[in-house]
Amino acid sequence: MFDLHLNIDHFATLRNARGGNEPNPVAAALQAEIAGATGIVAHLRADRRHIQDRDIALLKDAISTKLNMEMSTDDDIMQVALKVKPTISTLVPEKPNEVTTEGGLDVIKHLKHIKTCTEKLHDKGIKVSLFIEPEQSQIDAALEIGADIVEFHTGNYAVDYLKGDKNLITDHLNKISIAAEYAIENNLTAAAGHSLNYINIRNICQTISIDEYNIGHAIVARAAMVGIRAAVREMIDTIIKYKTFYNI
Ligand code: PXP
Repeated sequence: MFDLHLNIDHFATLRNARGGNEPNPVAAALQAEIAGATGIVAHLRADRRHIQDRDIALLKDAISTKLNMEMSTDDDIMQVALKVKPTISTLVPEKPNEVTTEGGLDVIKHLKHIKTCTEKLHDKGIKVSLFIEPEQSQIDAALEIGADIVEFHTGNYAVDYLKGDKNLITDHLNKISIAAEYAIENNLTAAAGHSLNYINIRNICQTISIDEYNIGHAIVARAAMVGIRAAVREMIDTIIKYKTFYNI
């Protein structure tokens, strides 16, 4: 059908604000699974600003869906992944002072290094997802590397969606759509993520064949108002309502 992976980083952000254990990101992950999330994303950053090493290990033991560990290819982070063995490692570029991931990986530029990391992760049975811009040349590089999944960066689409410029929105949708078709034709799983919310996801569902949606901030923000189960369920219902393409 489709996957909805909930990114739980900001439960950890909130917890860390007071240094205790509330809200507990693992408890949030379990609630999200009950509501129908088919995977949990957690980004172990170099500065450990939200998710901690312990969270990754606890999540691996506690959840029964997929653990999707978002990560850079820094050596110490790779060591954590190789030890914990998440279901999926999503490789992203990471800058120390960014508020959130700012764009896709340049797989072409870093092909050799990403290939080496991919091989190490594959040796442990971990699937590899590459967070990239929706460009054929980046997909070709992902294929050369042997990645399993490509996650298309939807952040720029979301920014232009807010501006309401119909031409720009259509351009983004076309670009992501062409990229997703190309990825799927080449037996990659097509994922999308970054800044997706209950409103801007509708166009994506209506026009693009996507297998996996990775969403954090919008669902966590809604959860503060209505609770985590309701927030996850609402996103799943939105996707079901608008989704036109299914890769069966
Ligand atoms: N996918 C990737 C690769 C990301 O870096 C992020 C942000 O951590 C997300 C998805 C989720 O983005 P958001 O929190 O804006 O939904």
